Amino acid sequence: MKITFLGHASLQISIGDITILVDPFISGNPKASHINVDTLEADYILLTHAHQDHILDVEAIAKRTEAVIVSNYEIVTHYQNKGLEGHPMNHGGNWDFEFGKLKYVNAIHTSSFPDGSYGGQPGGFVIEGEHKNIYIAGDTALTYDMKLIPLQTKLDLAILPIGDNFTMGIDDALMAADFVECDKILGYHFDTFGYIEIDHENAKRKFFENDKDLMLLEIGESLEL
Ligand code: NI
Ligand code: MN
Repeated sequence: MKITFLGHASLQISIGDITILVDPFISGNPKASHINVDTLEADYILLTHAHQDHILDVEAIAKRTEAVIVSNYEIVTHYQNKGLEGHPMNHGGNWDFEFGKLKYVNAIHTSSFPDGSYGGQPGGFVIEGEHKNIYIAGDTALTYDMKLIPLQTKLDLAILPIGDNFTMGIDDALMAADFVECDKILGYHFDTFGYIEIDHENAKRKFFENDKDLMLLEIGESLEL
């Protein structure tokens, strides 16, 4: 499994020959200007919630690639009404996709579309694929529900928001890592705008002091599991 950070909360995940995009927000992110939205590949687009900083590039990419949009029922219906392909889910539900098993799990956040219309309830994803298991938290507060995840899935990586203000900050993400019983963390949802700027060295040190590894990838950089 290969995971590429595309800036903010955007990820590209390769599992076998399947390419998954998560929360594509690239054309609106000046820090990601070296990522070409017009050539990004996708077989699936996973959306955690409907906020602008998670869905901005969905329509353009889905139209070009014919990727299947996977999210909550309300978000998928919104895109199906525009003629795009979708697979609706809701919290607690699993589905076996060609890349592996996907579960849509709880997140504590909000989920309106940019025009204010209802975007269902926000979520995160647990992916079990190619003998590697990852948790993509989405935008969320620290929540006790995270403790349910390791009861069913032994994680190899947890992708957690760390920017604070709109989501967990570093201290809560550290507790979230304990809750999901995973010592290998990829931080995301930081530095994109002023509200969520963080001190990288301080963040990494706090994880290190708790015997955990916080990875902060450059935009465009990848890690392999
Ligand atoms: Ni959000
Ligand atoms: Mn966000």
